[in-house]
Amino acid sequence: MARSGEQWWRDAVIYQVYPRSWADSDGDGIGDLPGITARLPHLADLGVDAVWLSPFYTSPQHDAGYDVADYRDVDPVFGDLADFDTLTSRAHELGLRVIVDIVPNHSSHEHPWFRAALASTPGSPERARYIFRDGRGDGTLPPNNWQSLFGGPAWTRATEPDGSPGQWYLHLFDTTQPDFDWTNPEVRAELEDVLRFWLDRGVDGFRIDVAHGLVKADGLPDSEFDQYTEPTALAPMWDQPGVHDIYRSWRTITDSYAVEGQDADRILCAEAWVLPAEALARYVRKDELHQSFNFEYLMTPWLAADQRATITHSLAQAEAVGAPQTWVLSNHDVVRHATRLGFPQTPGLERIDGIGTDDPQPDTAVGLRRSRAATAVMLALPGSAYLFQGEELGLPEATRLPDEARQDPTFARTQGASKGRDGCRVPVPWEADAPSYGFGPGDRSWLPQPAEYGPLAADRQRGAEGSTLELYRGLLRLRRELRLGRGRLAWLDGFPDDALAFTVTSPDGSVTVLANLGETPLALPEGSTILAASEPLELGATLTTDVTVWLTT
Ligand code: NOJ
Repeated sequence: MARSGEQWWRDAVIYQVYPRSWADSDGDGIGDLPGITARLPHLADLGVDAVWLSPFYTSPQHDAGYDVADYRDVDPVFGDLADFDTLTSRAHELGLRVIVDIVPNHSSHEHPWFRAALASTPGSPERARYIFRDGRGDGTLPPNNWQSLFGGPAWTRATEPDGSPGQWYLHLFDTTQPDFDWTNPEVRAELEDVLRFWLDRGVDGFRIDVAHGLVKADGLPDSEFDQYTEPTALAPMWDQPGVHDIYRSWRTITDSYAVEGQDADRILCAEAWVLPAEALARYVRKDELHQSFNFEYLMTPWLAADQRATITHSLAQAEAVGAPQTWVLSNHDVVRHATRLGFPQTPGLERIDGIGTDDPQPDTAVGLRRSRAATAVMLALPGSAYLFQGEELGLPEATRLPDEARQDPTFARTQGASKGRDGCRVPVPWEADAPSYGFGPGDRSWLPQPAEYGPLAADRQRGAEGSTLELYRGLLRLRRELRLGRGRLAWLDGFPDDALAFTVTSPDGSVTVLANLGETPLALPEGSTILAASEPLELGATLTTDVTVWLTT
């Protein structure tokens, strides 16, 4: 844990658990809270500071829990509130903080508020909590041209209580995820109360789902926004100025839980796919959120010039507002980096969308090697880092899931054109020789586990020299000892363009990081000592392609 009064989150390593897929205690094939509690020692041993739990709230699970029907309870599939309390206290005993997800942009269609909205009439206070509008023309056309992020229109026509076709409601995601109307003070008060509910239960912070989507432009105008080339704020549904007011208010709530004399900050981290970086930095101004995910870094190809440019301006943007930068390579919405990096690296072709049997397949050996090298770069960088479950085992994406097994609503809503995100959500292998690779007590697993997960199981890697798990443990230990997250980065001259070469210096030590992204082997600086390397390296050896090394010089 960070020392008292030092704002622990500024250099924290936060590990994402996707509750469905981490550990199953009851053998139903779906992970759960008691399963997580039982496996927490893995995280303490790995050396992370906090665990972030994706949603475990009451939900019909149409979007794996990002469709919340009761924000103050646990879905029976995951356990109950007592299980949550046990998890939190066990985590705290082990020195791990607990971050939970808050989903404020939309609820489930099974939320009592949405049921009440459907049961009431146009113009009622019940409807005013969501975004209901009359259709265009004779009412049969959606109110505007917005598209759902999961495919298809962002509007669904409701049936009025008398059985007639009625108003339309907005859902930026699935039909089962109606968007709240954040101009309604009742919505604001409710979600603030939800924050307090979990803070009172002892959580250490929140990851805010779709943090840039809560406020929509007045009049809900049509939009032809191109998310790849235009500033996000030009889209009437994203990054509207009003979101900042909400987060200023949330910050006063988390700040009110600070404990004098203790490093007890409760934190807020935005999931905001916002461009340009200057716009994203506004979310982490002093009176707003503590962190926001740096997705630009995740999207940066494994090319030295691109990596250098992203790292440099990411650090500058964060520093301009006094926030720590965050770094992330994988999560539950994108193709795992051990697979992404197994494709030829081309700017603009990030391959974050799911992969199916008919798609080009990655070179898995190259992907693993590069992902280890990329992680060794990331864990040296100043700021805070996020890890996604299983990346410490070098898990690849499951790229050959049968279509019948796919559960991500994106797959169905796009008629299979997008494979969806199931490939990164496959349950984690713990024991190579157990049924379901030790995911649960039986052989059930809500998504099929590929055979290549067996040899990557945690029990095969623990203590095994050169394993990905031991690499992560070693890097995390050094990162903590040298307090690299609190350090300053300086680029080094005199290295080839296709290498990354920098030092990170903190009050507690310093490291030189060299990564060879080119073809030509690189000599290590004379007199240097190897502290860690992403592949086994002999002293006096050269640095070959896709290897990162940490040195003292
Ligand atoms: C972002 C979450 O990370 C993703 O999994 C979810 O589908 C959408 N928000 C909608 O809540």
